[in-house]
Amino acid sequence: MQLQAPGFASYVVKKTPHFTAEQRAAILKRTDYNVFNFPASMVNIDLLTDSGTEAVFQQMWAALMLGDESYARNAWYYYFLDALRDFCQRGDKPNKRYLAGFEGVESFETIDKRFAEDESERGFVNGGISQLESPNTFLLPQGRCCENVLMQSLKKYWDGKGKEPLILSNGLFDTTRTNSKVSGFEATDLFVADMFSPFPIDKVGVENPFRGNINVPELEKILEKDSDRVALIVMTLTNNTGAGQPVSMANMKAVRALCDKHNLPLWIDSARIVDNAAYIKKFEDGYKTLSIPEIIKQLYVMADGFHFSLKKALCNMGGVMCLKHDGGFEKKYPGIGNDMKKIQIICYGNDSYGALSGRDLAAATTALYQVVKEDYIFPRLELTQYLAVELYKQGVPVVLPPGGHAVYIDTNRMFKDAAWSDFMGVGLTAELLHRYGIRACELGYMAWELDVYVEKHGKMPEHMPPNLVRLAIPANVYNKEHMDYVAKAVGELNKDKKKIPAFEISRGKYVDLRHFVVGLRPKPL
Ligand code: F0G
Repeated sequence: MQLQAPGFASYVVKKTPHFTAEQRAAILKRTDYNVFNFPASMVNIDLLTDSGTEAVFQQMWAALMLGDESYARNAWYYYFLDALRDFCQRGDKPNKRYLAGFEGVESFETIDKRFAEDESERGFVNGGISQLESPNTFLLPQGRCCENVLMQSLKKYWDGKGKEPLILSNGLFDTTRTNSKVSGFEATDLFVADMFSPFPIDKVGVENPFRGNINVPELEKILEKDSDRVALIVMTLTNNTGAGQPVSMANMKAVRALCDKHNLPLWIDSARIVDNAAYIKKFEDGYKTLSIPEIIKQLYVMADGFHFSLKKALCNMGGVMCLKHDGGFEKKYPGIGNDMKKIQIICYGNDSYGALSGRDLAAATTALYQVVKEDYIFPRLELTQYLAVELYKQGVPVVLPPGGHAVYIDTNRMFKDAAWSDFMGVGLTAELLHRYGIRACELGYMAWELDVYVEKHGKMPEHMPPNLVRLAIPANVYNKEHMDYVAKAVGELNKDKKKIPAFEISRGKYVDLRHFVVGLRPKPL
């Protein structure tokens, strides 16, 4: 029998509401048609984001009960630091020190021995007193706080001799881009040229072209000319802005070689590094026999620093940022860790809790072991793939192959005749919510603020941003039944797309990250 048994059973259940389309339409109108402002209690299937919205494993619930709410140096702070070493640099040889957290009170000998062991720990998580002398691990509430601390500090340490600093990336997430922008960095996404080329449906799940890669020829070109302007190269794994596509190990190695050549630091936005490692294992030659933790280790070996939104790694809350001890980032910006520590303490409390409760930290520590398990991550990728294939069968133009955490609808292909300024992606999200109670997220010309760009520069950008609507799947929450409903709903809407209105902005056009707050208004059909 080829049939595979389902990978999990649910012990906590949330009921979905029963509202009519008319009721949802009334509240959409009251909330200015911005899906971020729409009450979650009226949503049937919430695909707005996979971030912090996951159902967590029993082990994490158990850890929550063991959380230590002490102000300074709570018990799980130490377990978390060691779990982070396991996650990012120990591959197949984890310590799993955190298991002692489930045992109860520890002896003096155990605690003393660990302090002694920690003194020689370096890498991304300095141990013992060296974490105080050269701070390189920063606990924070979520990914964007890491980005903000990073960019604020980087701005102070940037010494480009009057040159405007530049950040190059395979695709910055919107919060990363905005944090760079408000600190005065110019951010450039170097997508691969074939990111949205057709991909055969029968090859989905069989091959992967790693279209989340950075465009190496373009990167080389910029570095040859302008490397003294580059403050940082950021690789986002997986590339959320680029339709959730993965990055290959080969691409990472090429970027590392260019960083070495030009003496530049390489940074990883590791929000979905586990998905990315799973893609490498499944689709890239030479990695099939390696474990996910071993692949993650090989990815981090290339980085000089990283930040990690733990909200994508089974945690409802959490983020962390690490600098490699004596790595390229610390060498280029000597002493920057002390500045980061200062901001962390001013804004987020004691450095051993980083504005997280002790319970959050205990759950996050445990999550770092659950999230790398193959019987968690592969079924997750397969569910996303299932939705993409079902949408394709319904005639919906989805980006293929799908990303790991989300399926992206290509708004330009769905609404071939619409003008870019019609913001049809907004129309699609509003109508999906109105008719079916499904909440999706526009990551297209509205979120990219294309109209503001055109107004400022008087022309279209040289590289047009992607115009997508994202259906992100919270981990462990939905099953194939939900995906069938979504596929049928979007399929039905696609057939009736002439009734989807264009939208215009009624309020908040010039606000940074405006898609969270902007007011919208349907244009008459
Ligand atoms: N980097 C990436 C690649 C992300 O996708 C996100 C968040 C962040 C950084 C910021 O992390 O939310 O913890 O502050 N992405 C969510 C999303 C919000 O819906 O894709 P955060």
